[in-house]
Amino acid sequence: MSEYHTPVMLNECIEGLNIKKDGTYVDVTFGGGGHSREILKHLGADGKLLAFDQDADAQQNLIDDERFVFIDQNFRYLKNFSRLHGAIPVDGILADLGVSSYQFDQADRGFSIRFDAELDMRMNQLGELTAKDVVNNYTAAELHRIFGIYGEIQNAKSLAETIVTARLNAPIVTIADLKNAIVNRIPRGKENKYLAQVFQALRIEVNQELEALKEFLAQSAEVLAVGGRLVVMSYHSLEDRLVKNFIAKGKFSGEVEKDLYGNDNKPFDAVSRGAITASEDEIKNNNRARSAKLRIAVKK
Ligand SMILES: C[S@@+](CC[C@H](N)C(=O)[O-])C[C@H]1O[C@@H](n2cnc3c(N)ncnc32)[C@H](O)[C@@H]1O
Repeated sequence: MSEYHTPVMLNECIEGLNIKKDGTYVDVTFGGGGHSREILKHLGADGKLLAFDQDADAQQNLIDDERFVFIDQNFRYLKNFSRLHGAIPVDGILADLGVSSYQFDQADRGFSIRFDAELDMRMNQLGELTAKDVVNNYTAAELHRIFGIYGEIQNAKSLAETIVTARLNAPIVTIADLKNAIVNRIPRGKENKYLAQVFQALRIEVNQELEALKEFLAQSAEVLAVGGRLVVMSYHSLEDRLVKNFIAKGKFSGEVEKDLYGNDNKPFDAVSRGAITASEDEIKNNNRARSAKLRIAVKK
């Protein structure tokens, strides 16, 4: 399990869930199952755990336990599948966003700038859109938008134009093709950071990560019991901003709405002030924990 993925802020997440022995919990990002196993340890015989993962490879970590149900779906369908399994209302939901270490380390999945492989980046191997499709078929304006917004890349416009020009000669099929095509756009001395931003943008687009997160967050408010906990860990500012705004305001942008009596109209109260980050010790042992931001909320 730990080779597949080392769970980040395990104790903090478990504390955040405030687990009741006979409660029903959902881990929407099962991965290596590290968080799920710990949740099960805190549940009694009548407790229940549903776990989602859209990557078929995560199923190599399935847990043999009658309190555990695995759902091989995107967490944007949280409400439908929780209802199907008779699990609503649930007492706590955990989301540990993004890709697992395993997914990064599989060269052929195309997530990592360390390897050469086809431009894929699908978390769900049955998904229709690949990074190759994005790079070869999107217009310059669409590429500009995703590199600018999802990658927060300074020269997003010229990067997009460079890709559109390069693919006139031959399709950009592999990671090496992409690196070669954009080599003149990459600031010297900042190669890894720049490429990581390019890859982040493509990955977010391929997996529609922000749309899925928004749908999941909105449904979490409908699925949780009053007093239930929402625990979300994110690894970049775009995700964290959505989580933060949703907890604080019940929406993803703009100001909180008021009801007829002037009370805030929002489904959650924050449990922790600000985001919780990993300890220095954990970061020393697991570099992935460095960028993690954990937010915990309680359903009103
Ligand atoms: C960071 S890992 C989770 C690691 C896990 N907490 C552990 O302890 O091993 C994220 C996992 O969530 C899955 N995932 C990401 N977005 C998803 C989505 N929208 N729907 C379903 N699964 C998703 C990925 O395939 C990956 O396996």
